[in-house]
Order: sequence, then structure tokens, then C-alpha cells
Amino acid sequence: MSENRGPVVALVPAAGRGVRLGESVPKAFVELGGRSMLRRAVDGLLESGAVDTVVVIVPEDLIDTARARLPDGVVVVAGGEERADSVRAGLSVVDGAEFVLVHDAARALTPPSLIARVVAELQAGRTAVIPVLPVSDTIKTVDVLGAVTGTPLRSELRAVQTPQGFTTELLRRAYRDVNGDATDDAGLVERLGERVRTIVGEPEAFKITTPWDLTLARVLLGRSGSEQGS
Ligand code: CTP
Ligand code: MG
Repeated sequence: MSENRGPVVALVPAAGRGVRLGESVPKAFVELGGRSMLRRAVDGLLESGAVDTVVVIVPEDLIDTARARLPDGVVVVAGGEERADSVRAGLSVVDGAEFVLVHDAARALTPPSLIARVVAELQAGRTAVIPVLPVSDTIKTVDVLGAVTGTPLRSELRAVQTPQGFTTELLRRAYRDVNGDATDDAGLVERLGERVRTIVGEPEAFKITTPWDLTLARVLLGRSGSEQGS
């Protein structure tokens, strides 16, 4: 497989409102042990040593706030209505990168080592790479009334995390050619018929979505001591 060490850009979608979390500020701006989720996600990307440029995508009215609170060199742009619109806005300012990562601000505790592993797979020649974990629960499909319509085989199911990594060419093509919504970026790439490679994810890369998740994140930070704590 070819070795490719071109520039890596990370897009950080952080323009959601965090409705399910229900805090008074948009989710990415919620503090977690003295640092916002967005700041933690950006710091993790920079600490990985595998990312050359970080582009964060935030609500329009928080652009100045984000710029003031993030390290120099981080690019800040306005997001859109849906997550895909925000990713598209980030992608539009990417110039000259070989690879693009898309990494949710909501996965604020993602270990830098996972980020480095995704990039290593891209550099080894993969064109689309996503971290996944097996699911513990049995998953059912249901209809609008809540009646069960099926039980997918659990051994074939995976919970998907970020960062998801792509060649810039492939992600651009997916966002240009695929219509409809996907809850992750790889979902668009799959619809092009392209192969998406999975690697083993990390429990700490869980998405902070609900108040329960926020409690879990704060407990985890409290246990890890001063290094991660602030
Ligand atoms: N996101 C975004 N632009 C949007 C919607 C979401 O950049 N229009 C980002 C979020 O900020 C988050 C990531 O995409 O970092 C994953 O989305 P999710 O966890 O659903 O966050 P929110 O949309 O903020 O939460 P909710 O759906 O509960 O409102
Ligand atoms: Mg959302």
C-alpha cells in the first residue's frame, strides 16, 4: 500500500444547539472541568501530533467568542442548519490538504492516540476510515407507533465515533454528489459505493449528547486527576 504523508486538516463541527443536553449555551461551549468541549476537542487534535490545521465550525453569533478562546492558527467559520451544512461550510475553506478528518466537538474526551491512529490508516493508503465499537445492547428497529419491526444481528452492528478520516478528494465528492441526510460523514461516502474501513474506537470518544453523558464526562475527568481536569 502506498505511503502518503500529505497535509491533514481537521474539521470540528461545533455549530449545533445541544437541544438534548438542554444547557443554556450551545453544547460545544459548555464547560467541562474548566475548558469548553470545543476547546478540549481542538486540544486533543493538536496533541495528537497528526493534524496540521484545525477548522472549527460554530454558530454565527459565537464566531468572535470562539476565536478569542482558541489557540492562534485555528480557523473559525460559521455553521449551518444541519450538521452536514456545517461540515460543508468547513470543507469550503479547506485548501491543499491531502486528508480531512471530521471530528465532533461533542466527543470532547477523545484520546489523541485515536486521532493519530485514524491518520496513520489514511497515510497507509486507506481512503475512508472510521473508529467503531461493538454494541452491548440488542438493537431493535421500530415503526412510528413503536412496534418492533426487526432485530438486526448484534454481532454485525457497530457504534460509530469520530474522528472520521477521508482523502479530501473523496469527502468533497461525497458532499458534492450525494443528496439526502446522513448522521455521519462516512454514510455519504458509502452511498458513493466507496469502501469505508473500520478501526477499533475508544470508550472515551463517546458523544456527549444528554445530561447523563455530561455527568459521565465530569466524573471521568474528576477521576483522572489534575492533568486532564482543567
Ligand atoms: N453540529 C454542527 N452543526 C449543526 C448541528 C450539529 O456543527 N447544525 C455539530 C454539533 O455541534 C456536534 C456534532 O455536530 O459537535 C454532533 O451533533 P450533535 O451531537 O447532534 O450535537 P447538537 O446538534 O448540538 O445536539 P442536539 O442534536 O441535541 O441539538
Ligand atoms: Mg444534532
